[in-house]
Amino acid sequence: MTSQPALPSASEITDLRSLARALALEAGAMIRGGRPDQVRVAATKSTEVDPVTEMDRASEELLRRRLAARRPDDAVLGEEGDDVPGTSGLTWVLDPIDGTVNYLYGVASYAVSVAVVAGAPDPATWTPLAGAVHSVVDGATWTAARGQGADKDGRELRVREAPSLATSLVGTGFGYEAARRAQQAQVLAQVLPKVRDIRRLGAAAIDLCLLAEGSLDLYYERGLNSWDVAAGGLVAVEAGAALTGLHGAPATNLMTVAGSPARQAELVALLEAAHADRPA
Ligand code: IPD
Repeated sequence: MTSQPALPSASEITDLRSLARALALEAGAMIRGGRPDQVRVAATKSTEVDPVTEMDRASEELLRRRLAARRPDDAVLGEEGDDVPGTSGLTWVLDPIDGTVNYLYGVASYAVSVAVVAGAPDPATWTPLAGAVHSVVDGATWTAARGQGADKDGRELRVREAPSLATSLVGTGFGYEAARRAQQAQVLAQVLPKVRDIRRLGAAAIDLCLLAEGSLDLYYERGLNSWDVAAGGLVAVEAGAALTGLHGAPATNLMTVAGSPARQAELVALLEAAHADRPA
C-alpha cells in the first residue's frame, strides 16, 4: 500500500482558496478587457470544432506566471500548455477559458477555472483542496475549499433537491468528436423523456457551480477533462452534491454525474441502463 502524503492544514487550504480566487479574477479581468469584437480561432485541438484562441493562451500564461512566482514547488496541469512537475505533492489544474466556443461566439457563459489538488492530477484518485470558477461576463465567482464549504461571492451554497427525477432540470455537455456526439445523442434520447428538461450551457465548470447553487438539479457529462471538473466539482461537492461515475466508479472522463445524493443516484441508474459509458 502506498502512503498518502499529509494534506495541507485547514488554514493552508484556506490560503489556497484565496489564491485560486485571486488568480481566476485576475485572468478573468484580462479576458473581459481584451475580448476583440471578432474573436479568431488560433488553432484547433482534438477536432476542427475544438478551438483555441489567443486569449486561452494568454490567460493560461498569466496563471502559470503567477503560480511560478507564488507557488514554485507545485506542479501545474493546464489545458493549453505542457505539464510542469513539482515537488510539493500539490498540482494546480487550470482551465484558462472553460467554454471557449461560447467565448468565440460571444455567448455569455465562459469562465476561468483554477483548482489545486493533492496527489496525482487524476480525477479518479486526486484529493481536490481548493478551487475557484470565475464567470467572465457577469463577474460571478464560486469558490470552495475541502471541508470548508462552497460560496458564490461570499454566499454559502447548498445543492437543491428536486422532488423527483421527473421534475429535475439537468445540465449536460457534448464532446468534440462526431462518434462521441452520436453516442451522447442516443443517451440523451433516453434521459430527456425522464426529466424536466435539459440545459446545454457550454461550460462544464459553470454547470457544476450552477448545480451547487441550485440553478440546476443534476449534471452529467461524458468526456470531461481534469481541468473542466477540478474546481467546479469541488464547489459542487462542498455544496452537498454527490459526484461519481457509473457502476460505483469515481467521476472520471468516462462519466461525471453530480446532484443531490438521492436524485444523483437515480440519474446514475438511468445512465447505467442507457449504457452511457460504453465505447463510442
Ligand atoms: C468544454 C466545455 C463544455 C463541455 C466540453 C468541454 P472547453 O471545455 O466545458 O461545456 O461540454 O466537454 O471540453 O473546451 O471550452 O475548455
